[in-house]
Amino acid sequence: MKKQKVLITGASKGIGLAIAKKLQDKYCLILHSSKDENIKECREGNFVLAADFSNQEELKTFCKTLKEQHGDELYAIINNAGIALDKPISFQPEKDIDKMMMVNLKAPIMISKTAFKIFGLKNKGVILNISSCIAESGNAFQSVYAATKAGLIAFSKSLAKEAGVLNHEHQIRVLSLSPGLIESEMTQTIPQDYLDKYLSMVPAQRMGKAEEIASTVRFLLSEEASYINGTNINVNGGLL
Ligand SMILES: NC(=O)c1ccc[n+]([C@@H]2O[C@H](COP(=O)([O-])OP(=O)(O)OC[C@H]3O[C@@H](n4cnc5c(N)ncnc54)[C@H](OP(=O)(O)O)[C@@H]3O)[C@@H](O)[C@H]2O)c1
Repeated sequence: MKKQKVLITGASKGIGLAIAKKLQDKYCLILHSSKDENIKECREGNFVLAADFSNQEELKTFCKTLKEQHGDELYAIINNAGIALDKPISFQPEKDIDKMMMVNLKAPIMISKTAFKIFGLKNKGVILNISSCIAESGNAFQSVYAATKAGLIAFSKSLAKEAGVLNHEHQIRVLSLSPGLIESEMTQTIPQDYLDKYLSMVPAQRMGKAEEIASTVRFLLSEEASYINGTNINVNGGLL
């Protein structure tokens, strides 16, 4: 039987790459990065679709290609690509604000819009948006990042409800997932005093691993998770 297709954005490293490794035996993957050559692993038997999501035209072309080349077999999308350009708001350049809004929020919305149309025709599919624990807790110097991530939670909950209004018998699920602090390139530059403060709020006093997010994603995509919908899943080690 032909494998169903799953799109993973930001699959070149970190959490996205861990998700790709975790899903590759079960699904045919569409691996995304801002540049084709950044996808170095999991290419065999899968597809690569590159686009810089801070660029409107590239995002538009990406959505069009996703629909035209992969729409027929698309089962799920995982909007994982994201950037954190941390600064005190008074010093945050507008171009950084625009970039975070584009990559973290507008791109997931436009890709979800494309997927929602595809899933609507088949009455089946999963949209999973990777948010952040910061969306609910807030964090100094990450106000714009937090706003984009909180937007993803609200967007996912609303879209899940919208699917139900359009057709009660559908099997379309829309979810968000909020990781806590996870070992990846994004968290490598966090100052030690912040790290210590954060870890003191986690019962296990350790950072999470990208594989731990990937295992949850695999479960959420499976039939075993068929009644989990319209909610935000925290994977944060019990962060207080
Ligand atoms: N790590 C954490 O502690 C943590 C906690 C909460 C939430 N998250 C969220 O989890 C997701 C993955 O984070 P991570 O830690 O794995 O980050 P990462 O290692 O920095 O990876 C980020 C991914 O996003 C892609 N990306 C960045 N800018 C892009 C752009 N302009 N256009 C298209 N793609 C772009 C990158 O692709 P290329 O570099 O190849 O272009 C890369 O694959 C993000 O949404 C992040 O906000 C992470």
